[in-house]
Amino acid sequence: MNNLRLVIVGFGGMGNWHAANVRARVPGVEVYGAYDIRPEAREDARNKGLTVYESLEAVLADETVDLITIAVPNNFHKDIAIRALRAGKNVICEKPVTLNAAELEEIIAVRDETGKVFTVHQNRRWDRDFCIVKAAKEQGLLGQVYMVKSIVQGSRGAMYGWRGHKENGGGMLLDWGIHLLDQAMYLFDEKVVSADAHLQSMYTPGVDDNIHLFLRFESGCSYVMEMSTNCLINLPRWHVQGTEGTLQIDDWGCGGKLMKLKPNAEMKWSDDIVYTEAGPTRTMAPRPEYTMTELPLPDEHPDWTDYYKNVAGAIRGTEQLLVTPEQALRVMRVVDLMFKADAEGGARKCDI
Ligand SMILES: NC(=O)c1ccc[n+]([C@@H]2O[C@H](COP(=O)([O-])OP(=O)(O)OC[C@H]3O[C@@H](n4cnc5c(N)ncnc54)[C@H](O)[C@@H]3O)[C@@H](O)[C@H]2O)c1
Repeated sequence: MNNLRLVIVGFGGMGNWHAANVRARVPGVEVYGAYDIRPEAREDARNKGLTVYESLEAVLADETVDLITIAVPNNFHKDIAIRALRAGKNVICEKPVTLNAAELEEIIAVRDETGKVFTVHQNRRWDRDFCIVKAAKEQGLLGQVYMVKSIVQGSRGAMYGWRGHKENGGGMLLDWGIHLLDQAMYLFDEKVVSADAHLQSMYTPGVDDNIHLFLRFESGCSYVMEMSTNCLINLPRWHVQGTEGTLQIDDWGCGGKLMKLKPNAEMKWSDDIVYTEAGPTRTMAPRPEYTMTELPLPDEHPDWTDYYKNVAGAIRGTEQLLVTPEQALRVMRVVDLMFKADAEGGARKCDI
């Protein structure tokens, strides 16, 4: 079977990442060409051995091109996606797929008209930390999961480059927020019944840069996400509580632990009172060690190339698409609601 011919539109940071990683790691997909509005980015692509196009029209007119990866600033995603689909190309779009749900609905309508494959690069479903949490939940190691904290903390202050401009679709909710929401809604195959957001603009005037997001799922689980940019002492990347255990993942290196309750290990309340300066507590006393056992974290080794291999399979008609625009539409509907909740104050009930 012939290789699929890929052209990357937007040859900046992420465009380069796609080119290098697909070329080195994804059999069956040929990184053929690139287009960027900046001449120096086109020169960079030429130096890396790619066929360089001088315009988007030229890319779309090339009938040998099967697949386009869109890696331009967020505000340009919708128009390029629609033009590419109409030109008969299959499309991978970087996240956030669009700036809001209405824009994505327009793309989905064109996807339906053309019958081409359209997907979003939600690569962080293949992050090892996330896969460990997902495996622990699915293997029932934690019982019923009812509280999740998903936290990413940087310390470099402002949002970088175009991410600092509202008109480009900048801000943290549309940047890391999309990754963490996609993970949350992929982890819980349930309806979202309420959403809230506290969006602060501390270092980047005009866009949100330090944020808390709140989701409630139909089963009752409360899911909190933090993204911050001036944090000098980091919290764990994940903290997940269930009826039978607690899991913590410390950082990107995926160190951490899973503590599980021992069945039938009795605990006497009377022995375990903690006295602070100002009073006693039983409720918040640490659990006696003999009632718990430490389990190894699930041994997960995800392979990001499965994303591109799946897209190739979907184009060839041999696989169901893993990341669908319908999934992304649910996320964008939550994002719309979160912007509203932040602007108007207060959680929004929903049925998404
Ligand atoms: N999935 C991920 O992990 C991940 C990580 C980083 C960025 N991204 C996404 O990738 C996209 C690009 O981000 P980046 O960090 O590479 O930005 P970047 O600024 O490094 O690169 C963007 C490139 O697009 C070019 N460009 C701008 N407008 C264009 C247009 N209309 N047509 C063609 N080229 C155009 C710019 O010249 C630049 O070279 C964004 O949507 C971002 O959210 C995703």
